[in-house]
This record gives sequence, C-alpha cells and structure tokens, in this order.
Amino acid sequence: MTDLAIQRKELVSSSMDQIKGIIKEKGVNRDSLDEVKSIVNSMTNEKEMFSDTEFPTPKPEEFAKIYLLTDDEGGDFSLYLISVLPLGPSPIHDHGTFAVIAGLDGDEENTIYKRLDDQSEPGKAQIEEDYKIVLRDGDAVAFMPQDIHRINVISESPTRHFHLYGKGFDQQTDRLEFNRQEGTSKSVSGSFIPVDDSRRVL
Ligand SMILES: [Fe+2]
Repeated sequence: MTDLAIQRKELVSSSMDQIKGIIKEKGVNRDSLDEVKSIVNSMTNEKEMFSDTEFPTPKPEEFAKIYLLTDDEGGDFSLYLISVLPLGPSPIHDHGTFAVIAGLDGDEENTIYKRLDDQSEPGKAQIEEDYKIVLRDGDAVAFMPQDIHRINVISESPTRHFHLYGKGFDQQTDRLEFNRQEGTSKSVSGSFIPVDDSRRVL
C-alpha cells in the first residue's frame, strides 16, 4: 500500500468513527448533521488523496462515476466519492435517509424544495422551490431524510464531491421522486445507480 493509500485509509477511518459516534450519541437531527457536515467537509482539504489519478472522472458515455469508499454492514454509513459530468439536472428527490454532500471540485447547484401538502394522499405531493445553493470546493450541505432537492452540475468540468448517506444507494428503497408540475410523487429505488466498489478504502 502506498503512503497516500495509507493516509487515505486513516483519514476515512477516523472521520467515519467520529461521524458514527455523533449519530449514535445524538441521533439524526439538524444539529448532529451540522457536526457530521463539518467532518466530511474537512476531508475536502485532502485533494491529493481523492484525485483524478486515484478516482478517474467519468468518460463521456458514463455520465457519472460513483465510487464507494466505505460502508458498514447493510449499507449503513455509506461514503461515496461521486464525479458527475455537466449533463443537466437530476430528478427532484429525497433520499429516505440522511445525506451530507461536500465539494472537492466543480460546481453543483442544489435546488431545495418545500413540501406544501399534508402528505395524507399517497402519490400526491405539492412542492415549491425554497432556495438554491451552489456547492464548490470546501462547501457542504446536510439533508434530513425527507428533505427534497435536485442537483445540477453548472461548471464546465465534472464535479468531484463526497456523498455520505445513512443508507447506501442499494438500500435507499424509500426514495421519492417528485413531479412538481403534476403534483405527484413516486417511490423509486436507489439501486438503479451503478456503484463502483473496486476502489474501496475501508
Ligand atoms: Fe440527492
């Protein structure tokens, strides 16, 4: 193992230990996620450990590369390095689990939506745009399980961001996708997203 690989493993290991400690002690709430956010964000200082050499950006036909860095059994505490080409906005969605995103490179516009209805009717959902933030190098954002967003790469270069989820994509069976114009929502699985786990750190 190279020195860089050892450093990367130590960083991911100590960061995940801290993150799990916070969630175990305080549960999932905006305050605890703020603390988790600052830990994931501090990892963005280590550009060399997570460079294009180690984790190649997607080829044009690939759209995105999703590298699983580490997870626990059952997909708990899944940390990914994700690189996305600037090819337009994602569907509007939630994750059904907490999420923290922190930027290493590229500009990812996040549009955050407010839910307006009382959620009493399955398949119906009234949402409206709340605010936008752009995640660049050194920025981070945290989402509660039912927070709704859409992402769009607005830089010419691909993004390179950390994504931490309470449950991994394969286990995100409670994701909702929203159609704002039609006022509808539908349950989708996150497992359609191809994950590359050949470069696991832990
Ligand atoms: Fe998302």
